[in-house]
Amino acid sequence: MSKNIVIHDYDITRSHRNKVNGHDSFVLWFTGLSGSGKSTIANKVEEELFYKGIHTYALDGDNIRSGINKGLGFTKEDRYENLRRIAEVAKLFVDSGVVTIAAFVSPLISDRDQVKEIVGHEDLIEIYVDTSLEECENRDVKGLYKKARAGEIKNFTGIDAPYEAPKNPHLQISTVDISIEMSVKQIIDYLEETRRI
Ligand code: ADX
Repeated sequence: MSKNIVIHDYDITRSHRNKVNGHDSFVLWFTGLSGSGKSTIANKVEEELFYKGIHTYALDGDNIRSGINKGLGFTKEDRYENLRRIAEVAKLFVDSGVVTIAAFVSPLISDRDQVKEIVGHEDLIEIYVDTSLEECENRDVKGLYKKARAGEIKNFTGIDAPYEAPKNPHLQISTVDISIEMSVKQIIDYLEETRRI
């Protein structure tokens, strides 16, 4: 930290906000290949939480990469910086009392470890949306796999850039075996069982 930065202690803290809101704040971090269903599931989970009266906000490539991270690409270095900034933003949201939903490919274990360090291990729930490359490529909702195979997109995760699956995620969702509704239920049940909500 720069030597002339002095952190001011505010009187209203996260625990005041959590108390007023009536719930804890934490990050639901979705990782998985492009097209694996992260955003679709994240969106439905947010809906469920929202209608339970829980304060939520969703961060994803659309609002982050078109704004605060505009200008970052998909090299290893840019992804690292993308995820580092997202983690810092998520940490602020958690401090503000919000259940923060983050859906990012976040392909490397080391980058995800750094996200956990920034947010705080106890405040992050890692959800692996486990959809095989074959299935994502078959679905190819955005047509990006086709372009990556044709060499029109470089460093595409799963094609010419790596995806390292989490070894010990809090939850693993197999989207081929279960419906979106069941995936959402699996997550909500987990949050209730672990008394997060
Ligand atoms: S991350 O690797 O830095 O976590 P992020 O989740 O922000 O990636 O963005 C991934 C989304 O950007 C994909 O779902 C896809 O739509 C798009 N995209 C564009 N180029 C690439 C690429 N080279 N690799 C992966 N996704 C890409």
